[in-house]
Amino acid sequence: MEKANINWGELGFNYQKVDKIYVSYWKDGKWDEGSLQDDDKISISVSATSLHYGQQCFEGLKAYTTKSGNIQLFRPDMNAKRLQNSCKRILMPEVPIDKFIDACLKVVEANEKYVPPYGTGATFYLRPFVIGTGDNIGAGPAPEYIFCVFGIPVGPYFKGGFNPVKMTTAKFDRAAPYGTGGVKVGGNYACGMLPHQIAVNDGFADCIYLDPETHTTIEEAGTSNFFGITKDNKFITPDSPSILPSITRNSLLTVARDYLGMEAIEGEIKIDDIDMFEEVGACGTAAVITPIGSITYNGKKHIFHSEEEAGPKITKLYNTLYGIQFGDIEAPEGWIVKLQKQCAK
Ligand SMILES: Cc1ncc(COP(=O)(O)O)c(C=O)c1O
Repeated sequence: MEKANINWGELGFNYQKVDKIYVSYWKDGKWDEGSLQDDDKISISVSATSLHYGQQCFEGLKAYTTKSGNIQLFRPDMNAKRLQNSCKRILMPEVPIDKFIDACLKVVEANEKYVPPYGTGATFYLRPFVIGTGDNIGAGPAPEYIFCVFGIPVGPYFKGGFNPVKMTTAKFDRAAPYGTGGVKVGGNYACGMLPHQIAVNDGFADCIYLDPETHTTIEEAGTSNFFGITKDNKFITPDSPSILPSITRNSLLTVARDYLGMEAIEGEIKIDDIDMFEEVGACGTAAVITPIGSITYNGKKHIFHSEEEAGPKITKLYNTLYGIQFGDIEAPEGWIVKLQKQCAK
């Protein structure tokens, strides 16, 4: 397969049209088979619920090229299940897990020339989403839906090295108690844009969200999950219904415990206890891990390891999970879905 003429190492995280997208329509109580199309535009009614009432949800996952040239997805079943949970929460029809994985593989296969080669650090990012469509002006569930998957090549996240960022706590909440923080719906991201912008204007990379009920425990780090590593080698990550259950976080719990011999704990992290951590980080599909060098809370800066270089334990976690995703380190059973096996026809 001849690759597209792209400078893979210089790619950022920007939209570009590739060859094919996948679209499936839900009407009269069922999904159609879905198909690939060349056009990257979809046409919907001006009255679609996704435009007015935020009845939409999405996912983000990546395809990786291994050293031997195979293309693989990392835990797509987890994204499929999370999309189902998002759909359930906002009264949209669920996409079956097999249909979700098949659509992702079809998009990767049809756009193989845009899937970055091994060694560039670049990946092919997939964005599946479900939106309410059809004619329906009332604030109720839509009569029709679209499930779409598109993909883009994206560059290596850490171009200038695996360096820590500075964060500050947010004055706003991204989620309400018993709200939609635990699912991946668009409204969560619209309301996060202002706090993110304020943090950036104040010289930080992003903001840390505290729990919406008491503002005493840590929930998320921007659009990533949060974790810390204590001096006695415990990997701790918050547990709360208003946190989006990150697939990277779930994977890091396994990596910390089974690959690095750490104690892996899901539990409350009080912002007042933050100094118990030697290293802290944010985790998500985009970067795997972003080391956090400092958190400013109530005017006081708390530094973890260093503001200039990533700590040794975070670096080990990062290298191990990155190695698993690119096929250099053996993955736990069921984590990898290879392209050719699924699409062999
Ligand atoms: C709010 C939020 N938290 C955490 C994550 C990280 O999740 P994942 O590791 O599944 O990418 C994401 C990204 O999807 C997110 O949007």
